Amino acid sequence: MKNKIIITGGTGYIGSHTAVEFINEGFEVIIVDNLSNSDISVLDSIKSITGVKPTFENIDLTDKNKTSIFFESNKDAVGLINFAAFKAVGESVKMPLQYYHNNLNILLNVLEGMNRFGIRNLIFSSSATVYGLPDCFPLNENSTTKRPTSPYGNTKKIGEEIIEDFSKASINFKAISLRYFNPIGAHSSGNLGETPTGIPNNLMPFITQTALGLRDELKIFGNDYKTKDGTAVRDYIHVVDLAKAHVLALQRLIRNEVLENFEIFNIGTGIGYSVLDVIASFEKTTKQKLNYSFASKREGDVPILYASTSKAKEELNWNPILTLDDMTESSWEWEKKRNS
Ligand code: UFG
Repeated sequence: MKNKIIITGGTGYIGSHTAVEFINEGFEVIIVDNLSNSDISVLDSIKSITGVKPTFENIDLTDKNKTSIFFESNKDAVGLINFAAFKAVGESVKMPLQYYHNNLNILLNVLEGMNRFGIRNLIFSSSATVYGLPDCFPLNENSTTKRPTSPYGNTKKIGEEIIEDFSKASINFKAISLRYFNPIGAHSSGNLGETPTGIPNNLMPFITQTALGLRDELKIFGNDYKTKDGTAVRDYIHVVDLAKAHVLALQRLIRNEVLENFEIFNIGTGIGYSVLDVIASFEKTTKQKLNYSFASKREGDVPILYASTSKAKEELNWNPILTLDDMTESSWEWEKKRNS
């Protein structure tokens, strides 16, 4: 019999790629999502890639009662991957209460459901934003966490703290938090990718939409950072490599290979690329000329952020294999396909 797992937020960008990797590894996947920032058609896209359409439950996980009923009928699950959350950094600054309410109540209801019905293994979708404004690089999992620059980021930091406390208090419960750096890219099938609503906040979708003519030009936020070319540096990670890290992390929990009941792993490539590096890769792989200009820095942006990924390599046996060129090219293929 297949191991059953629950993926909350499974029709979203990272959740859907993760569902594919779990199905490919022989798991039975149950997706829970309220479709607030995703589309039901993603289920057919997952089927087109894997041959399997995951079971789907449309539930708002802030609803404690409905969440509890869901857990009762899925108590045979071996684990849960929690992606369900609001994720727009800028929006969270304008609507902090909605972000705290949504992201933290989802997490609490999920933990309570897992606790009550004996589901022991959790993977939490966290972010490098928990390092706040860092002092030194590369960032490893023992680097000091600081107050994130946005309420969104703070929900990730508080979320990790809640999970850590619960994992100490509960004998059977184990969790791994994956701190993502900058996920970009799309599935090689061209059937899954990022679908931001409205004007994109993030770099990669802004680049692809500009190249397609949906936006006039990309504004590069800042060109006088103390970096090799003056533009900010990030650790971009292909969403498919990132998705695979979730499978390895859950297998580690299931096999009880953890050293502690709550573990943290950075998920990036360990390589820092500037905004101009990303543009150069995009122009090279897609043969598109990108219209861009320089603008002032974006508030809250850090100059440089990249990971030490040795812990994930050594303990999870996870090795990202896709390059920046794979990331920019697959993002472009997805953007063209979804607009065709
Ligand atoms: N950038 C531009 N122009 C744009 C958009 C972005 O120049 O139109 C620059 C940013 O200034 C930054 C880089 O491109 O230097 C990457 O920006 P993104 O918005 O794509 O990503 P961030 O690094 O700001 O944020 C990401 C995730 C967040 C997470 C954060 C953790 O999107 O969810 O990393 O550090 F919180």
